[in-house]
Amino acid sequence: MEKTFVCVKPDGVQRGLIGEVVKRFENRGFQLCAAKFMQVSDELAAKHYAEHEGKPFYNGLISYITSGPVFAMVWEGDNVVKAVRQTVGSTNPTEAAPGTIRHDFAAKMDRNLIHASDAVSTAEREIALWFKTEEIVDYEKSGTNWVFGKNS
Ligand code: PPS
Repeated sequence: MEKTFVCVKPDGVQRGLIGEVVKRFENRGFQLCAAKFMQVSDELAAKHYAEHEGKPFYNGLISYITSGPVFAMVWEGDNVVKAVRQTVGSTNPTEAAPGTIRHDFAAKMDRNLIHASDAVSTAEREIALWFKTEEIVDYEKSGTNWVFGKNS
C-alpha cells in the first residue's frame, strides 16, 4: 500500500502537538509504519530541502527545521499521500481550510507546524532519506478492511 512521510516540525513539538497530529491520522484510519523523535542535522536538512536551495526562504527553512527536535513518521494507506496533505492543509496556514491541522493550529508560513510529502515519488525519496529499511515496520493492522475495504 502507498506510504508517505510526515514530520512534526520543531514548533509543533514545542507546542505539544505531536499527539494531536498522530490522532488525526489515526482517526482517518491510516497505519503508522515508523516514527522517531530526533534532532535534524544540517546535512539531513540540506538533503531534505535540496530542491529549494537558492530560493529566498531556503536559509530560514534550514534554521527552522534544525531549531529543535522533530517527530518524523511514515504512514500507510490507500491514496495516503493525497489524503495526508488534505488533513495537513495548505502550506500557508492563512489559506488552509478550516479543520486542517495548519488552519487549526498555525498562523504563518514560517511556523506551519508540519511537513508532508507532496507526491508519491517525493514520499519514496523522503522515506529513504529519513528512515533505514529496518525501521519501517510491516504489520497487519486490525480493522483495515473497515477503512480501505472495497465493495464487490
Ligand atoms: S515552492 O515555493 O513551491 O517552491 O515551495 P513549497 O513547495 O510550497 O514549499 C516548500 C517548503 O518551503 C516552505 N516555504 C516557505 N517558508 C517560509 N516562507 C516562505 N515564503 C515559504 N515558501 C515555502 C514551505 O513551508 C515548505 O516546507 P515543508 O516543510 O515542505 O512544508
